[in-house]
Amino acid sequence: MHEPKTDRDARVFALYEQLLEIEQRLIPTGLHVFGRPSSAGEKTDLLKMIASFDRPEAGVRALPEAVAEGAVREFVANGAGAAVRFLEKEGLTPESTRPLFTLLENVSAKLQTNNELDSLVRALRGEFVEPGPGADIIQNPDILPTGRNTHAINPYGVPSAVAFARSEHVANSLLDRYRQENGRYPEAMALVLWGLDNIKTQGEGVAQALWLLGTRPVRDALNRTTSVEAIPLAELGRPRIDVVMTISGIFRDLFSPTVQLLDKAVRLVAQLDEPLETNYVRKHVLQQVEQDACDPDDAAVRVFSNAPGNYGTNVNFMVMDSQWEREETLGDLFVTRKCFAYGRDSKGHAIEGREARVAMDRALSRVEATYQNIDTFEIGLTDVDHYFEYLGGVSKAVEKRAQARPAIYLSDSLSREIKIRSLEETVRLETRAKTLNPKWYEGMLKHGFRGVAEIENHVSNTFGWSATADAVDDWIYAEVANTFLFDDAMLDRLRDLNPHSVHSLAQRLLEANGRGYWEVDESVVDRLREITRNLEDQLEGVHG
Ligand code: BEZ
Ligand code: MG
Repeated sequence: MHEPKTDRDARVFALYEQLLEIEQRLIPTGLHVFGRPSSAGEKTDLLKMIASFDRPEAGVRALPEAVAEGAVREFVANGAGAAVRFLEKEGLTPESTRPLFTLLENVSAKLQTNNELDSLVRALRGEFVEPGPGADIIQNPDILPTGRNTHAINPYGVPSAVAFARSEHVANSLLDRYRQENGRYPEAMALVLWGLDNIKTQGEGVAQALWLLGTRPVRDALNRTTSVEAIPLAELGRPRIDVVMTISGIFRDLFSPTVQLLDKAVRLVAQLDEPLETNYVRKHVLQQVEQDACDPDDAAVRVFSNAPGNYGTNVNFMVMDSQWEREETLGDLFVTRKCFAYGRDSKGHAIEGREARVAMDRALSRVEATYQNIDTFEIGLTDVDHYFEYLGGVSKAVEKRAQARPAIYLSDSLSREIKIRSLEETVRLETRAKTLNPKWYEGMLKHGFRGVAEIENHVSNTFGWSATADAVDDWIYAEVANTFLFDDAMLDRLRDLNPHSVHSLAQRLLEANGRGYWEVDESVVDRLREITRNLEDQLEGVHG
């Protein structure tokens, strides 16, 4: 049967958009070497990326992709004046482009210096190290020069007005996406909040939680964010979503007033006199009070973290060590580590890490979607094990308690247009843009031993998304095997650089197959086993 032409056109266009998305994805192409300034090539790439974002605070307009390339090359070769003249020929006035090159001159000079080693020595001697902000370089070029003492943020300033404004759109897009797929709003969502991310974004994660609840921050006479108010339903135009927050130990330590603010927002919403179908927090709190005959204060606990003084979920360690049999163990471990409540009850008593396992089990049992904001180009889902330990961990915990796998979403709030993606889409994108991208892995291999370890890390972190969320397609494992193990020349290179990591990589693929995450021909598995055996012989020094 012939496909109607319009359908075919639509599919070709969708494919084109996907290719464009991968092509335009910014990827780190190597590791930073402590104490070494950027090379000329790296510098040009960085400047090009910096030039592709609007910076209203510096009067800078982003350059269109097509001309940025030429203009930045001109700038690096011949200076700001030459770049401005280059763009004038493209029809852009000098007045409009001059501020950009003033900024780039400044960034370029700071990239040239590198005080990291000096600062380290100074810190070791107990001497003063100049403070500087911490952020993504593209998000905030003021982090340069590096080698300064990264300072955090005033928690009373969080969320900033900009973060709150930006987050309305993210919260709406998230709810739109869920509605497209499910035809209604999610009644409850689980959010992951990290400390460093909320420092970098001045509290975008916090602001997203407030928006979902339908609340806004209120500042006191000293301009400190110490309270919240409800956005009227008529203005909100949708129900208030019940939000279960898992915060990292770092967030808990750095953002104590913000923890209180989030808890306050939930409790405020829970006691609003509104119809239950417009206020899911109130609906769930009342349900639970009735079902469990529990105190309303206990039914409104939504902010969870580790016990005081503890950090992390340990889900990552359990996955990496292969020390588990059933996936639900990973979700249970997440709850065991994270079921400590923070906030303040209606009598004004502080709740500072009180064990609240039942409350967390109940709160998670209603969750229909889980979500985390990604705020940097440099660290994504497969770069570190923390995304799967948190977002994967909470999703697996929900799956057992709600008896259904939640929809799992991520946003990247750094793209020019904020985009919501499902976990599966994000894993595919990360895999294509990084793990399987020759530009990425060749960048890593320049670092020799460490580079192979990074490739293996990415594969293991990808595996973490199978274990916690069954979110990895078969083709991903197949292509990893084809690229790194079944290509003899590549296998030789990796083996020479770091046989331990290649061995771990091969074993991880066998584990993916063994645990049912990767269905593939037995002949492929046999080939993997043989490669693994040969690597073992090499590691044990058996030759010939
Ligand atoms: C945090 O900033 O809260 C964080 C950093 C690394 C891993 C987990 C959390
Ligand atoms: Mg599968």
